[in-house]
Amino acid sequence: MARAFAPELLERLRAAKHVAVLTGAGVSAESGVPTFQGGFWGKYSPEEMATAAGFRKNPSLVWNWYGERRRELANVHPNPGHYALAQLEQRGVRCTVITQNIDGLHQKAGSTRVIELHGSLLRAKCFSCEAAAPAGWEQATQSPPPCAVCGSWLRPEVVWYGENLPPKAWDEALDASCECDLFFSIGTASQVYPAASLPQEALRAGVPVAEINPDYTPLTAAMTYVLRGPSGQVLPELLAATWPK
Ligand code: OAD
Ligand code: ZN
Repeated sequence: MARAFAPELLERLRAAKHVAVLTGAGVSAESGVPTFQGGFWGKYSPEEMATAAGFRKNPSLVWNWYGERRRELANVHPNPGHYALAQLEQRGVRCTVITQNIDGLHQKAGSTRVIELHGSLLRAKCFSCEAAAPAGWEQATQSPPPCAVCGSWLRPEVVWYGENLPPKAWDEALDASCECDLFFSIGTASQVYPAASLPQEALRAGVPVAEINPDYTPLTAAMTYVLRGPSGQVLPELLAATWPK
């Protein structure tokens, strides 16, 4: 049986000029990427793999672990949830995708306005001076290569615990959240800040917010709409219900 959506939500989506979407690891789960709470770190801990202290302690281990994650992405494909978000643009909706994911799958699916809050597995930068990595950095599979500017190590350009979000990405995300007509929070446990504050900022600005997740989150009770289920199913069904053939 087809899922029932609140008619008012469908109306709002149909009329929306600008939709902002916050995505988390759950959006990529159906592509086979483990969520952070579902095994992403493998046998390691976030302290070892996702802090500056962990990198200083064992730069080669960390560099190679991210390299493996990056190489795995070659065989990872967007799922119907990613494609549905990209299709919103084809419907003439301006869709700002604010993602906490570092896998590049929204771009692979065709979304053109993607804000990466937590960086990307596909880029590297200097650990000290933050200069962008020179071409060919991906070839280094033993230890992090040196920065061409200052000689320090290169590191993955992902945001680690205790680090600030890229300021431009954050400013753009906040603006989009407060200026859009409809906000979706999809596949995120809503536990890591400041990202988890974006749906709350949208609500404060008077924007209706819909959560798509198979589970409850700390923000579920505050949501305008709650769509329970995997995003790879819910999003295509939502588009089909909004724009029936
Ligand atoms: P989590 O792993 O914390 O949460 C994943 C969320 O996805 C949970 O709420 C699941 O219920 C939901 N989920 C699972 N399968 C799903 C599906 N098929 N469709 C929709 N939702 C599904 O991941 P995030 O909330 O993204 O930060 O984590 C946020 C940040 O914490 C990450 O970006 C990372 C992590 O530490 C950094 O590394 C800086
Ligand atoms: Zn440097």
